[in-house]
This record gives sequence, structure tokens and C-alpha cells, in this order.
Amino acid sequence: MKLDKTTETLLIFMAAFVILFTAYFVDRVCADNNVSSEYTIDMTLTGARLSDGVYATVAKSGEGKARNHYFAQFDFSIQNNGNIGISNWTATIDVPKGTELSNFWGVEADIEGDKLVFTPEFYNLSFSKNDKLDFGVVLNTGESFYPSKINFRGYKTGRNGNVFTNIIFVAFIIWAALFVGFFVTRFNLKNYREKQKNDVRVILQSMNTFISFIDAKDPYTRGHSRRVAMYAAEIAKRMRLTEDEVQNVYYAGLLHDAGKISVPDAVLNKPGRLSDEERKQIQDHTVAGGKMLKQMTSLRGIRETALYHHERYDGDGYPEGLKGESIPLYARIVGVADSYDAMSSNRVYRRHLNKDEIIEEIQKGSGTQFDPNIVPYMVDMINDGYVNVVKMETAENDSGENNFHLTEDDIPGVYMGF
Ligand SMILES: [Fe+2]
Repeated sequence: MKLDKTTETLLIFMAAFVILFTAYFVDRVCADNNVSSEYTIDMTLTGARLSDGVYATVAKSGEGKARNHYFAQFDFSIQNNGNIGISNWTATIDVPKGTELSNFWGVEADIEGDKLVFTPEFYNLSFSKNDKLDFGVVLNTGESFYPSKINFRGYKTGRNGNVFTNIIFVAFIIWAALFVGFFVTRFNLKNYREKQKNDVRVILQSMNTFISFIDAKDPYTRGHSRRVAMYAAEIAKRMRLTEDEVQNVYYAGLLHDAGKISVPDAVLNKPGRLSDEERKQIQDHTVAGGKMLKQMTSLRGIRETALYHHERYDGDGYPEGLKGESIPLYARIVGVADSYDAMSSNRVYRRHLNKDEIIEEIQKGSGTQFDPNIVPYMVDMINDGYVNVVKMETAENDSGENNFHLTEDDIPGVYMGF
């Protein structure tokens, strides 16, 4: 059974949740049933909270003087605001020598030497979280006396925010963050993809407009730009360029002849021999295209391809006579694709060549007109019939007079990049 990515991720999250919850539950049970380490704390009797949230106060609620001693009532209060319980506790305060216990309540109390020791009454052994212990004594002392601190000790019970619990808590927070993050990312990705698709649509629509200008100028080569784009993109794909680059090569192929708009119709569609001046005018479509597409910097290589697709590998091309690898890669690719399409289409001045003639011509041009590293890909595409697929696809769209419109669906999946 194959699960889609969302279900798979959801299952992982659910599994993580179950593991965390089980660990947390086990930890709770263990902690609740475990009487663990000793607990001891010295507290000032001022009510200041020193540690663990256990704090204590005392009030001297009455004092008198008899013949040879003082007597006073002390009301104690100990509050447990921490996150642990304490069992079998004992509270101790220092008292002056000879102190006598006259009365007590709320606890068991006893004088042991110079200490007054409080222990819980039998029904009040454990001092739980949020509990408050109120108890009091009446003492007879030789001198006026006010207790300043109390020692409280016992055994911890219940939870104590131990390391394991903290780890589980942190893991749970991480889990929750990932869970939320996952869905936010999915949502954003979906929006982003929608936007990306829309961007591609805008690009394609702009290109449609361009191409219809070019076609209007040179109806005889209608469909040329699109075929060149598809051949060039396939070469790029077979050369294992990245998907982005394949897509850029496609756009570069579509617009490579944009400069033809600036060539007079009479020259562009002239049958028969061209004068030197006319040939120069036609060759100038490269420079014109380069100028026209100067602004199109967001699609890499578009301008260079229009400018340099008639350069030759041996340096005898135009407009600048660039040589070898100094000719931009896209222009070298489109150059081969452009020549193939020219040879395989009828022109005003000649009919198209057959397959063997074309292969021979292209191989003859390898290293002189064409980049010898690109030629084998083009030859393969002719031999394995890919070029015919392109011709069939474009022919359908070319059947109507002005019916040639490029849509998203015309671009094979890979060129869309998603
Ligand atoms: Fe051209």
C-alpha cells in the first residue's frame, strides 16, 4: 500500500504523539507511586518564599508575664505552594532552655532539649500540594522569646518536575511546533504553487503576444519559434540541465527570432537571391532582438540567445563572430535547433531536406557551425523520432489560419517545472 506524503507525515506525527503521551503517563504513574528522597528546608518565619514554594509564618498572638516566667501563644502557618507533596514531616524550632509546653493544637508537639518538635496528627500525615498547615502552641519561657526560623523535613511524594518530565514537555512543545509548522508550510506551498502557475501563465501569454507579432511578419515560418523552442528544450533536457534551465532554454527558443520584427517584409519574404544589403538587413535581426529583449532580465539567457543564435562555433558567424564556448550555451543549443528546423521546413526559396540529408548536414557542421558536444543530442532526436512528435504537436495547432496560440498545455510537463 502506498501512502501519499500528507498521510505519511500525519501518521508519523500521530505515532510521535502516542509515544510522548505514553512516556508522560508512565512517568506520572512512577512518580506518583514512588516515595523518593528526603526533603528538608530551613525557613524564616517571615513568610518569605525561599524555595520550592513552601513557606511559613508565625504570629505571637498573646504574651503575659507571671512571677518567674513569660507565657506566650504562637500561631504557625506553613503553606505548600510547590509541586511536590511531603509525607511524614517534622517541623522544629529552637526554643530557650527550660521552655515548657503549656498547650498545643493542630499538631503533636514535644520539647526535646532546646528544640520544640512538631509532628503531624495521625490523620494529617501528608502535606500535599496546595495544603496549608495551621497549628499553635502556648509556651512558658524564662525570657521573652520570638522564634525566627523553622526547620521542616519529610519525604517527597508525587511530582517534582524532574528531568524526564521536562524532556517530555520540551519534546511535546517541539512536536506541537512541527505539527503546526507542517500544516502552515503545506498551506503556503499550495498558495505558492498556485502563484507560480499563474506567473508561468503570465509569461506564456506575453510570449504568445510576441510570437504572434513575429508570425505576422513571417507567416511562411509560422510555428518555427515554437518548434525551435521544443527542440532546444529537449536538447537541454537530454544534456541534463536543471529543470529551470530547460524551461529558460524553452523561452529563449520561443523568442530567438524576435528581432525579425525589425526586418522589412519585402526582404524577409523575398524569394530568390538576396543582395548584400538585404542579407545584412536580415542578419541584423540578431542585434535588433538583443536590443528588444534587453529589458527581459528576469528570464536568464533570453537576450543573449536572440543576439547570438547565428554565431558559429568556429567564429565565422554573426553578429560578433564569437567562437566556441564564448558563445552562450543557450544560443549554441538554439543555433542547432534553429538550423534543424530550417532544413526540415519548406522555405520560400527551397523545399525541405530529407532526414538523411539533414543528419549529414548537421554532422558536417559539427565543430564548424555547431558545438560538437550538442550535435549528437540533435542527431539522436532525429533518429529516435522525437522531432516528429514535435512536428505533429505543432502541426495540429498550425492548422487554423491565425489559430496558433501557445498555452500551458503545449509545454511538456518538465518545462513547467512542477
Ligand atoms: Fe534567427
